Amino acid sequence: MLEPGAVLPVRVERFAALGRGVARVDGQALLVRRGVAGEAVRVRVERVHAKYALARVVSVEQAAADRVEPPCPHFDTCGGCDWQHLSMPAQAALKRTVLNEQLARIGGLQPPEDWLLESAPPEDSLAYRDKLEFVPVSDGAAWRPGLHGEEGFAMPIGECLLAPPYYSTLALAALENLTDAGVLPPPSAAGSAPPNLIRLTVQGTEKSDGSPGVSLLLHLKAGPGEKPAPLLRRYAEAVSASWPGLRAAVPQTEGVALLMGGGESRGGRRKPRLEVVRGGNLLRKRVAGWLYGAPLNGFFQVNLAMASRITAHLAEVLESRLLPPGKDLPGGAPLLFDLYGGAGLFALPLAASGFRVLCVDSDKWALRAGEDTARATGVERCRFHRRNLENPGALAALIRREGAPAAMIVDPPRRGLAPSLLADILQASPPLLVYVSCDGGTFARDAARLCESYRMTSLRGFDLFPHTHHLEIAAVFERREG
Ligand SMILES: C[S@@+](CC[C@H](N)C(=O)[O-])C[C@H]1O[C@@H](n2cnc3c(N)ncnc32)[C@H](O)[C@@H]1O
Repeated sequence: MLEPGAVLPVRVERFAALGRGVARVDGQALLVRRGVAGEAVRVRVERVHAKYALARVVSVEQAAADRVEPPCPHFDTCGGCDWQHLSMPAQAALKRTVLNEQLARIGGLQPPEDWLLESAPPEDSLAYRDKLEFVPVSDGAAWRPGLHGEEGFAMPIGECLLAPPYYSTLALAALENLTDAGVLPPPSAAGSAPPNLIRLTVQGTEKSDGSPGVSLLLHLKAGPGEKPAPLLRRYAEAVSASWPGLRAAVPQTEGVALLMGGGESRGGRRKPRLEVVRGGNLLRKRVAGWLYGAPLNGFFQVNLAMASRITAHLAEVLESRLLPPGKDLPGGAPLLFDLYGGAGLFALPLAASGFRVLCVDSDKWALRAGEDTARATGVERCRFHRRNLENPGALAALIRREGAPAAMIVDPPRRGLAPSLLADILQASPPLLVYVSCDGGTFARDAARLCESYRMTSLRGFDLFPHTHHLEIAAVFERREG
């Protein structure tokens, strides 16, 4: 019988879904964090459940060839990366296996043979993130930028290797300046969080000379009974005063903004309020030669180099099927719906290449950023439309207004397609559907439904998140005829 705290030798037999190793002790399954298939390790049992136990590697007795030295000193405890102990080829192989298993187990599907997984060159497997979210946390002596550890608690970090080093420098400089200004109280016990300041988002924005810049967004929350307006003013004044200090610490700094969270008020829910203290109200992101506007507080892909591979793939898929060279298109430019289209990452280049595109999203800031890019780049055939796609009938209403599209792109959040939207897509039955997904499990679930009327004719993976178990997927579904 396994007991928490017990240390024992095991052989890791294989990988489980999230890349944990699987070992067996007296017939009981052990999920081994940081364990690599094929190696002999000593593990400490952490938790025992009815059907399995969780354990962590404490020493490696006989390493597998796929094991490498993790580059980050925080790897053992940080909840951000989970695969830094695996070589890049092993990470790629495991991502393929995991997705194949998800398609088979959840969707009952066989993926197209030899589907391609596009990876960045190994030298680009660190510092690839264009956006990092820090939580402020006390180390007992100062407020420090932190990340969530494996157990969920915030832990201070020196630097996150997934982003450029000045991202953590900027977050630290902001915390120091706010403490000096008295907006943040002196730090309390190690591990505690300050009042009012919930998160610091540091994200890239290209400067007007084309060099990399960075922008800071402070997420604030008024305490119970506290008025948001004076709190916002205090922060705005302190940030304004610390601007020269932030620029001195990180010359790439282009802007600082404050976001006062929604939360409850006496009259119902408050709207979140965004206040730009320095810099513009849009970020600038370069992907495959396009300079996109992106919202300060909204979605944009975080690995810009690999995002350009997805845009190139979508263009290749859609143009080869719907814009054959040298052929007249009797109906004019084919209509595409880019559903969950955000700031137009896919929509804008597709409109420039000859499609009419309707980019649909629920985030008005993302849509305004997309409109700004369309204006700046002179793209005329791309329109942006705000709609909650998860309201029943949302897609049918769009089709009534716009006509039936030649193809749809869907790129939902991790939760996948809402059941009502999936039903509406099957009902509308576009001849071609491209599904971009960041979650293999929900993708497999939705793909199974789609395959009742479609064939998955192409599947491609994009390794947007090296050193983590995450994989971006783009799959092409073609309607079965007859
Ligand atoms: C994974 S992002 C994809 C954005 C875009 N395709 C890109 O790659 O930049 C998902 C998008 O879905 C939008 N979204 C989330 N829930 C939505 C809903 N119920 N209706 C419409 N859009 C929604 C978000 O605002 C976000 O822009």
